Amino acid sequence: MLNSETIHPDNHTSQRAEGDRPLGPVKAVTERGDGAVRLQYAQGSVDIAFYSDDLVQVTLLGNGEPEAGIGTGEVELPAVQKAAHAADGQNLIIRAGKQTVEVDLLTSAIRFVSADGTVAARQIGLAWNDKWKATAYFAKSDKSRFYGLGEKAGFLNKAGERYEMWNTDVYSPHVQDIDALYQSIPFVLHADGDTYTGVFLDNPGRTFVDMRSFGDMFSFGCATGALRYYVISGPDMKSVVSRYTALTGRMNMPPMWSLGFHQSRYSYMDQEEVLTLARTFREKGIPLDAIYLDIHYMESYRVFTFDKVRFPDPAAMIAELKEMGVRIVPIVDPGVKKTAVDEVYREGIENDYFCKYIEGNLFAGKVWPGESVFPDFSDPKAAEWWGSLHAFYTEMGISGIWNDMNEPSVFDSESKTMDAEVMHNNGGVPKTHGEVHNLYGLWMSKATYQGLERLLGGERPFVLTRAGYAGIQKYATVWTGDNRSYWEHLAQSIPMIMNLGLSGVAFSGADVGGFASHTSAELLARWTQAGALLPYFRNHSELGSLRQEPWAFGETVENICRTYINLRYRFMPTIYSLFHEASTTGLPLVRPLVLEYPTDPNVANMNDQFLLGTDILVAPILKPGVFNRSVYLPEGEWFDYWTGERLEGGRYVLADAPLDTMPMYMRAGSVVVQQTAAVSHTAESAAAARHLDVYVPAAGSLVTNTLRHYEDDGLTTEYRSGRYDQLELTLKAEGANVELTTKAIHQGFADRLAGPVTVTVHGLGEGAASVLAWAADGKAVESKQAGTAADGSATLEFAQWPARITWTAGAKA
Ligand code: GLC
Repeated sequence: MLNSETIHPDNHTSQRAEGDRPLGPVKAVTERGDGAVRLQYAQGSVDIAFYSDDLVQVTLLGNGEPEAGIGTGEVELPAVQKAAHAADGQNLIIRAGKQTVEVDLLTSAIRFVSADGTVAARQIGLAWNDKWKATAYFAKSDKSRFYGLGEKAGFLNKAGERYEMWNTDVYSPHVQDIDALYQSIPFVLHADGDTYTGVFLDNPGRTFVDMRSFGDMFSFGCATGALRYYVISGPDMKSVVSRYTALTGRMNMPPMWSLGFHQSRYSYMDQEEVLTLARTFREKGIPLDAIYLDIHYMESYRVFTFDKVRFPDPAAMIAELKEMGVRIVPIVDPGVKKTAVDEVYREGIENDYFCKYIEGNLFAGKVWPGESVFPDFSDPKAAEWWGSLHAFYTEMGISGIWNDMNEPSVFDSESKTMDAEVMHNNGGVPKTHGEVHNLYGLWMSKATYQGLERLLGGERPFVLTRAGYAGIQKYATVWTGDNRSYWEHLAQSIPMIMNLGLSGVAFSGADVGGFASHTSAELLARWTQAGALLPYFRNHSELGSLRQEPWAFGETVENICRTYINLRYRFMPTIYSLFHEASTTGLPLVRPLVLEYPTDPNVANMNDQFLLGTDILVAPILKPGVFNRSVYLPEGEWFDYWTGERLEGGRYVLADAPLDTMPMYMRAGSVVVQQTAAVSHTAESAAAARHLDVYVPAAGSLVTNTLRHYEDDGLTTEYRSGRYDQLELTLKAEGANVELTTKAIHQGFADRLAGPVTVTVHGLGEGAASVLAWAADGKAVESKQAGTAADGSATLEFAQWPARITWTAGAKA
């Protein structure tokens, strides 16, 4: 607990950059061998490299500083474009492809001009610095908004915030002014009026991004290494996110079971408890895909062991669970107990795989098992070894691993992490821990993911991680660490997950119900509702906290949890298609409204609503005792998911939200693919019949919409060699006149999407319609008359999935 002494005048340090030493005028301009341009200053150089028409890389180096090992090695870059440069008075104009960079030869100001002539970004200054090593200053305006920045507490729009990037294990409550949590992603999406630009500072040491200290500038800088940043020019928000993820990588398709509901607890203490838990889910008819084993499954918290008393036969337990459709995900922390009785320790010592100081002595520190050592995952040999150790788990039938404590967290070191002086192999370009700290978690998850890939023989691995850096999405799903069972933390998880999504991490989630403190019936109900439509859906809670399994608070809340967990599975076909979109375009499945409606001022900082894809608007209840709420519906028309009522957009509506209802709205013009049958886990989804909800706009407005629906086996990597189905669904609707066309874009399965399929068209209004369905060869397969239900919808079932269906209004019933 801090007291007032914290704010003693003697403790005051200014956040403003101190001791700036600006670069001064350019002394010479040279060309780097690969086509980049080098500006030579008295005290260093700045390299400007163009990689595509929307990507420029800038690297500041001190005179004589080594060029090897800058950044992470995790970025994917095409060849440098050859740049041409010419002086124009005080400016140097550098051009490559469609972009131009204008350098002020006297001041180190740089203007980044996009292909369409827009000034994407304006660097005002670049300086060596006393407190930090180097700082870059960029222009902002009073209209500037900032998104992204990875996993940060607080609100969606980060204007007015300043963050440091230093992966930290924070058990203290995550509040707005804690600026470093477990993940560091120094990527900011700057929206200024209608200009959208991404800036990515690729430096895995301690860095900062400051949108607070100056009225007309934002700044970022690094404490170690080189100041290397990328400017990604729009034109719009989506293209910036997509370009950023092309640079830092996109996730592979996750196994479908990782998208189901997961149950965790610190800890399920023994084999019997785990089996009883799984059986309870099945008895109660609550879908479940995975159970997590926290640290108590191990012998003395030693990784790659099972406690023989608590878990006498883990393989049998895992096999029995698999029969029930439940997977086990065990926790694996980086700390290896420093004891000669531990085989992993012995092997690591024999082969020199653990992190050491330059003098050769091992770094050791306390974590759960006591005094522990830490693998150097940046050493390719150590990484391969670590990955292969997972045979211990995969041979028992495990294909998902939970990486925790990988900041790394170290209980007894002064910095609470690895000593900054410890060395890392860093792929053959050795660096101190201080220079690469933020990469440790990513390296661990990468070694784990790649190890599982090798071991699983074509099955997709699942890795969950707490720590990470830009690019973590390639290897792991991110959960947001030790939140609490606070309403504020439920509310905060929404912008946090949305900003993670804008920072390349599409697959993330917070502990549902809250990890620390004690949840309540109402909080668990509301959190399960929201979690059901967020990317990663796991209920997890702390040792000693009130139990929070879905049934922990009696029948009412159990029923609510069941309904919303079922809803998640019902929407699984849509969720899965959105995962596919995220894996191919980098766009997150859970989106802040501003991503879809960038010019609508009402959504610029909307924290309490989100979109699942483009068509499902979710307005969770984030406060206790609240049973209705205002919901903003963007332009267009929307349908209340629960009542089927059509509502005009571009305004606020008051939504009813009794405890069993989370307000949800469907966009008019959308087709939402679902599965009908209730399933108990995702493997049953493939066989479930498909259902389409079609939402049509009011008469007088013609809407055309196309969406792509994606399915594969949900488990293997065979989709990469063409074993997937992709359909293009096109809806043309004007009032009750509706045409829905299905075109196979790719067919990897003989009969996966053959049928049956039910289609509900919402918003038809009164009266009846004649419905005609055609097969792919143009032959009419069915002709029906459809009357409408009281809510104006009509449902029809087709034995085969038709290629085209038309509804024509006004027919006689
Ligand atoms: C850390 C994790 C938490 C886990 C606990 C015990 O606090 O963040 O999820 O339950 O360690 O392993």
